[in-house]
Amino acid sequence: MKKVLITGGAGFIGSHVVRLFLNNYPDYEVYNLDKLTYAGNLENLKDVETKPNYKFVKGDIVDQDFINKLFDEHQFLAVIHLAAESHVDRSITNPLEFVTTNVIGTVNLLNAAKRIWGCTKDKAVREDRIFYHVSTDEVYGSLGDTGYFLETTPYDPQSPYSASKASSDHFVRAYFNTYNLPVVISNCSNNYGANQFPEKLIPLFINNIKNSKPLPVYGDGKYTRDWLWVVDHARAIDVIMHKGKLGETYNIGGFNEWQNIELIKLMCRIMDKKLGRAEGESEKLITYVKDRPGHDRRYAIDAGKLNKELGWKPSVTFEEGLEKTVEWYLESEQWLKSVTSGEYQKYYQQQYA
Ligand code: NAD
Ligand code: TYD
Repeated sequence: MKKVLITGGAGFIGSHVVRLFLNNYPDYEVYNLDKLTYAGNLENLKDVETKPNYKFVKGDIVDQDFINKLFDEHQFLAVIHLAAESHVDRSITNPLEFVTTNVIGTVNLLNAAKRIWGCTKDKAVREDRIFYHVSTDEVYGSLGDTGYFLETTPYDPQSPYSASKASSDHFVRAYFNTYNLPVVISNCSNNYGANQFPEKLIPLFINNIKNSKPLPVYGDGKYTRDWLWVVDHARAIDVIMHKGKLGETYNIGGFNEWQNIELIKLMCRIMDKKLGRAEGESEKLITYVKDRPGHDRRYAIDAGKLNKELGWKPSVTFEEGLEKTVEWYLESEQWLKSVTSGEYQKYYQQQYA
């Protein structure tokens, strides 16, 4: 059996990647390594946790000794690295935590893979191993009204989160250039879908609309993001891991740009229907609040390389994906309740009071 390590598999995107790999590749033994921070939740994997080829390991990527032992014991053939601190607002409050997890944690994994795979510059890049680093389009910084991020766009991160992801990307490329470590990187736009922690825009607003709480729109609401359904991100990771070229970068995006305020109004309309409210009822909850410092104005990704070279494209329209997502949150009352109790209340108070 091929042993594959997925880090951060109990988080939002990681849980969808773990599920897709377990379902698509019964001959892979999937190890999910996760520290179970506030964002990690084994409930996300309830439907697949009894599969015979699934193993959960609780641990911290920052702990180098632990990582080295784990790699020695299992001799993984592939690593898909998603574990990270992932929320921009939290990075503004606590940047060092982002450096520790996102930069040092990544370098620990790179070192462990390099060691067990025996990678050095004098040996050819191994085609039978892969270190797949999952990154974000936020490393490219902010766009004006026109243009798209390409794989060749210079890095210009603006937030502590994107700076830490940019740094980790640089280390991954450095290990390819310096040690011939077989790596691939993808930079994806904003994801949405089931199991996303309700600190990010879409699940936070779904939860607030449901509970008739104010919808805190940062600044003028005219910030633009490209949105991709999380299952389509997991499908792209599958395609890139199996067909991508080592040493390359692939941008992943939804071909789907929305100004925040327009997206929020769409969510309000969908929720009005689902909750049997009068049209326009939920929009009354929109409340403009103080802007996020260093707020990137616009992200827009050109995923043409992935589309042309590897044949990937999103499988659902935004309206379909958003509707599925709203339905999932409305049906998953218990999940929402468990993640929004305790610490979440404190976070919410500090962030939005
Ligand atoms: P998430 O915050 O939902 O999940 C992160 C997971 O990593 C959690 O399960 C957490 O417990 C785990 N983790 C955190 N620190 C750890 C540590 N020290 N050791 C082991 N596990 C640890 O994040 P997400 O939204 O699923 O993002 C996953 C990856 O995808 C991240 O690398 C992120 O930068 C990237 N990404 C996210 C988006 C997005 O829209 N969410 C878009 C592009 C790229
Ligand atoms: P977010 O989901 O945090 O993702 P990112 O910052 O990584 O793009 O935010 C998406 C957009 O929504 C971003 O422009 C910030 C904005 N936003 C709000 O207006 N209010 C909020 O409460 C949140 C969490 C985000």
